[in-house]
This record gives sequence, structure tokens and C-alpha cells, in this order.
Amino acid sequence: MIVDKQGSPLLAEDNIRPDTRHGVILYVEDVSVSFDGFKALNDLSLYINDGELRCLIGANGAGKTTLMDVITGKTRPDVGKVNFGQQVDLLGMDETQIARAGIGRKFQKPTVFEMLTVFENLELSLAGDKGIWTNLFHKLSGEQKDEIGKILQTIGLTKECYMQAGALSHGQKQWLEIGMLLAAKPRLLLVDEPVAGMTGQETERTAELLTSLAGEHSVVVVEHDMAFVRSIARKVTVLHQGSVLAEGSMSEIQSNPEVVRVYLGEDQGAA
Ligand SMILES: Nc1ncnc2c1ncn2[C@@H]1O[C@H](COP(=O)(O)OP(=O)(O)O)[C@@H](O)[C@H]1O
Ligand SMILES: [Mg+2]
Repeated sequence: MIVDKQGSPLLAEDNIRPDTRHGVILYVEDVSVSFDGFKALNDLSLYINDGELRCLIGANGAGKTTLMDVITGKTRPDVGKVNFGQQVDLLGMDETQIARAGIGRKFQKPTVFEMLTVFENLELSLAGDKGIWTNLFHKLSGEQKDEIGKILQTIGLTKECYMQAGALSHGQKQWLEIGMLLAAKPRLLLVDEPVAGMTGQETERTAELLTSLAGEHSVVVVEHDMAFVRSIARKVTVLHQGSVLAEGSMSEIQSNPEVVRVYLGEDQGAA
């Protein structure tokens, strides 16, 4: 969940509607970021289509997390353009404004409230800007209950809804956190290494979940697990030294000699 400085969840209510008439929801153009002279992102350009599920791969240090930091306003690029839809300039907005505009980010480590139930966790993320403690005692409308029911179904935790979040498996906690992000109705979801530490079955279920979100949402997934990326089977972007090295289907990527040399080569056993 994304919270403001008072600890209230941020909803994409005052939605700045991104203009996606050209089919593109995220424009990243000629972006460079340097840390003490080292270029973490180097003239990087990337376009995410509205409703698409995109996989982002690349060796450690390729710049994947830095790219997410730039999109969400955590890091400012030295140069470049980052637009949400055709017109909304994300570089002119802070992290809170970007979250409110409808860009949700899921970090690697799940940050659910362990002492609360699954339902209460979702209730909190749905409850708006009234502050956590008021929200816990605030009565939900029928509409809000339906919405939580729908999210529970999407993330596959209907049966677990009255369980304490702390008692969920690692995979279930990750799904709950995705559900908490969904409560804010983001248009674009950024997900960093969702299947790290998951069992094979949880990994499969996560692939299904993210695939089901595409269409209504646009989703960018950073992941190292090649079997997972293959099972999602969508367009893949390979980052290398802060730039896009290749883009295409998994089979195009796997037969690209440059990609094999600099990235997949080291991973051939697993791939
Ligand atoms: N705050 C920072 N200060 C200095 N160097 C950084 C910082 N953040 C990232 N880097 C460097 O930038 C490069 C890209 O890092 P990162 O975006 O985390 O890569 P990835 O997520 O693909 O593993 C790495 O060499 C990393 O050490
Ligand atoms: Mg990273």
C-alpha cells in the first residue's frame, strides 16, 4: 500500500487521466541517470502500451530498479522525458502525486499489516485519506464490500479473508499486497521480482494473476526467473548497462546473439 506522510493510504481518486489515444500509457525517452559519474541509466527509451503486460529482464546492476525509481519519482533523471499517457509529465510531480495519478508500485518485500486480517488489510487500502485509525472503525458501504470481494477473488484469497495476514504463506502475502495496490485502482502497476522465494505452484499462480490484471491495467514486471517470464509469454525488454539491449517475444530474445552473450549466456543452465 502507498501511504502519505500521515500514514493514510493514497487512492488514485483525483485521477489525472492519462491520454492513451495513441495506445501508449508510459513514455520513457532518452533518460539518463548518473550516480557520481556512473551511468545507471544511459539514454534509455521505452514505451509501454495501455493494457500491456511487459517483462523487464537484465543482469544485476542493469538499471531495472533505477528505472522504476525514475517512473515513480524517487529518483530524478539528469535528462530525458517520462510521460504518463501523452501529456502528463511525471518529472514535474513528486512520489505522492505520481501514486495518486494512478501508478502503483510493489516492492520485493511484502509490507502487509501482519496483525490484521486479510479483509482488514484490503479495507485499509480502500478506505481513502481519512487516516488508518478512523478507517478501522469506519463502516464500509455495500459497494466497498463488493469491491473487496472482487479483489479477494482476483488474488485468490477469498477463503483466507478472515485469517491474520501474518499467518499467510510468503506467496499469499505477495498476492495480498498486490490486492492492496489494486484497491487504489492504478492504471499502471510496477512489480519488482514478485516470485522470488515462492514455491513452484505459487509462481504459476502469480503468472496467472498478473496475466489476468493486464487489459484493465498495464503491468511492468521485473523478474529474474526465466521460467516465469516464459510462462507469461509477453513482450520482453532486456536492459543492459542502463540501456535497452533488445525487445521482443521470449523466443526472439532467446535467439538474439547479443542477449545470449551478455545475459542469457550466464544463465544457460536455468534457461
Ligand atoms: N543510489 C545509488 N547510488 C549509487 N549507485 C547506485 C544507486 N542506485 C543504483 N546504483 C547503481 O546503478 C546501477 C544500476 O542499479 P539497479 O538499478 O539497482 O540495477 P538492477 O535493479 O537492474 O539490479 C548499479 O551499478 C548500482 O550499483
Ligand atoms: Mg533491482
